Amino acid sequence: MSRKIAVLAGDGIGPEVVGEAVKVLKRISSAFEFEHALVGGAAYDDGGHPMPQSTLDLCRASDAVLLGAVGGPKYDKIQPPEMRPEVGALLPLRSELNLYANVRPAKTLNALKDSSPLRGDRGVMDLVVMRELTGGIYFARPRERRDDGNTAVDTCIYRRHEVVRIAERAFEIARQRRREIVSVDKANVLETSRLWREVVTEMAPSYPDVKVSHMLVDNCAMQLVRDPSQFDVILTENMFGDILSDEASMITGSLGLLPSASLSDPKEGRVFGLYEPVHGSAPDIAGLGKANPIATILSAAMMLRYSFDDDAAALVIENAVDAVLDAGIRTADIMSEGCQLVSTSEMGEAISQRILLS
Ligand code: IPM
Ligand code: MG
Repeated sequence: MSRKIAVLAGDGIGPEVVGEAVKVLKRISSAFEFEHALVGGAAYDDGGHPMPQSTLDLCRASDAVLLGAVGGPKYDKIQPPEMRPEVGALLPLRSELNLYANVRPAKTLNALKDSSPLRGDRGVMDLVVMRELTGGIYFARPRERRDDGNTAVDTCIYRRHEVVRIAERAFEIARQRRREIVSVDKANVLETSRLWREVVTEMAPSYPDVKVSHMLVDNCAMQLVRDPSQFDVILTENMFGDILSDEASMITGSLGLLPSASLSDPKEGRVFGLYEPVHGSAPDIAGLGKANPIATILSAAMMLRYSFDDDAAALVIENAVDAVLDAGIRTADIMSEGCQLVSTSEMGEAISQRILLS
């Protein structure tokens, strides 16, 4: 069966890393059909809007979306701010496609154990941040600024059904893992957090095989550096998930390694999703062949697992990445003594070769 993948390369290093992920997907199967469209700064330059309607339409007509990264210094001053690539492209993509469940695994890769900023084995971990992605302070209105410029308002709203659906996805993922959820909030201060905690507490008895506990977000930030191995699934709201996922990713050693999936409602065992690296567009190294394509390649593996229900193919890609790293092949961001330094495309090629061998 042919599957259509919308490819939104975006800005900065986006096109380079996405190119390598497409290369890997082509090695896995000839059944994928790729259609490219503009997003972010590239789309703004082309037609004056970071999220063209035609790009959204392509996503809706596809089985999955592969995204690179958006934004860059060239676009930071665009007015109004709603037209900047991050807010004007990423946020509408997420909300229009109902991608409310953001899955961000952060796992220590064996070959890169020593790259963690935590000494020795203290940084070894295998966790997933389940981040609510279409609610909370990122989306709620009013967002007002007083005319004199001295007062700004952001509003945080959560509705029961928004908490229920992300928690359901977290319970499902926990069941495929070590069956432990830490739900993270700020219930000692925020009303939205008290609702969040109430809903998760009510749902827990329906999943008796999953252990649920609650943690305040400041404590979680601290626990992540104290002992990241204590976490299996971290379930949290939009902004806390943004912050904690960056923290967790750095503990693995490099932001250049971490994939993500943003998923909609499951239907018949499959979900529509957008797959992208956790890192940004890295304009300082764009076009130089220095970017690490592994995060995007592992995002493509997540696409196979969640949207195409093909765990075996996902594992082939993940094992190929491990094999290449075990062989000492490195892009600049993860380079260490005695290893072989390669470019973005050489890394993609090395991983593709391992797929052919497997
Ligand atoms: C992320 C990014 C985005 C977010 C920005 C670029 C809007 O930091 O995907 O984590 O905050 O969600
Ligand atoms: Mg972020």
